[in-house]
Amino acid sequence: MQVALVGLGVMGKNLALNLIEKGVTLVAYDKNPDAGEDLLRLAKSEGTAERLHIVSDIGDMVRRLQAPRSILLLVPAGELVDRVCTELVDAGVEINDMIIDCGNSNYKDGISRKLKYQNKFEFATMGISGGAEGARHGPAMMASGSEGGWERIEPSFEKIAASFNNESCFARVGHSASGHFVKMVHNGIEYALMQLIAEVYQLLRLGCGKTPKEIAAIFETWSEGDLHSYLLSISSHILRLETKSNEALVDLIDNRVGAKGTGLWTAQNALELGIAVPSLVAAVQARHLTNTKETHAAKEMKYAAKSTNKVKVDLEELKDAFHLASLLAYRQGLALIKGASRSHQWKVDLAKTLQTWRAGCIIRADYLDQIAKNVEFVDTLTTESDALRKVSGLAIASGLAFPVLTASQTYLATLTTPSNGHLVQAQRDYFGEHGIKTHNDGTCHLTDLVEIDAKVR
Ligand code: 6PG
Repeated sequence: MQVALVGLGVMGKNLALNLIEKGVTLVAYDKNPDAGEDLLRLAKSEGTAERLHIVSDIGDMVRRLQAPRSILLLVPAGELVDRVCTELVDAGVEINDMIIDCGNSNYKDGISRKLKYQNKFEFATMGISGGAEGARHGPAMMASGSEGGWERIEPSFEKIAASFNNESCFARVGHSASGHFVKMVHNGIEYALMQLIAEVYQLLRLGCGKTPKEIAAIFETWSEGDLHSYLLSISSHILRLETKSNEALVDLIDNRVGAKGTGLWTAQNALELGIAVPSLVAAVQARHLTNTKETHAAKEMKYAAKSTNKVKVDLEELKDAFHLASLLAYRQGLALIKGASRSHQWKVDLAKTLQTWRAGCIIRADYLDQIAKNVEFVDTLTTESDALRKVSGLAIASGLAFPVLTASQTYLATLTTPSNGHLVQAQRDYFGEHGIKTHNDGTCHLTDLVEIDAKVR
């Protein structure tokens, strides 16, 4: 199998090493010649350089490949994708060649690029998760589309992707650019899980007075059981890291969190589609809020005693609340994928989607087993929902901020307790005559049901 790869940044370089290790012949190009040399050096040290051809010119890359060509783009999302596509057309790519955008691109760009390039080459999209380590040793690969070129390249991707229970974490999840939508939602869930872990840490640290090392030990105990996840494991590792003078590493880091856009797109799409993902939206806004003030973790810790009420949290209950809130983040993300799939007619296969998340990606977790069996089951976990209520109440009582924890509690409560929409319906009709839905799905106005002599002004 012969493949070309454009873009030898961290992800591109590691994916290249993975491909050649698994027997693929690779022609690789980056406009920065140092990146190519670096890759060649690494491939030599791993004994796989014979399958690697570094080229210094994109035209040379196209000429070296036998048609029909398979070209992977590992370039930053945005304009650059189009620039490289244009260069490839100028260099001679043809109608049966397939170019796969593997960056964190917006799925809307994927849809318009498919149209834009339909008479030039096959444009395909694939989201890749797992960071540098994943790309090197087995990422999760969320592909989509029905381009003919997939048949050529799929067997190689199945080999280089992570695997779970001997099943590859590469899949074509649905039609069109749905792979990028799925990757976007993966990242939305990622934001929520990261923020949730940070909130649990904060509650234990400031609300309960525990040290980072003590919190790491709690996370480790949880990880040994059914709560094991990649993000929880890296968080306990981070909390154990100390400087030479025994300062906790986390205390040296500023509180302001950046973002590249996928979390925001998830929130925007959910709002546009009318699908509630409050935990995911809360996580995006939590990042935005960190940027409203310049803070330094160590400085804030000094004032923490004044602004925080100490609370007594039962660790078993906290664990249950954390578990349920985590499951709810996936539930919301999957509901969003389902809704988008319906509205775009993508036919996204949720089972395949979950299979791509089982290993290699950032949101991999042992409890995905439970989710794979039944996404809706989370609403019936009574012990855990009691714990989520109780812990959310204590968290609020501490005076600290818990946007994702409390959004998860609100989400679950909305699904499982009596709603209050009837009064809002009545308010809308009262002032705007917007109509009210009745129990049997009919519509009418308040005045059809009762006489209103004079309205309040
Ligand atoms: C992954 C990650 C990866 C990247 C995100 C981070 O799945 O490997 O999601 O894609 O870390 O882009 O996004 P932010 O910079 O927005 O946090």
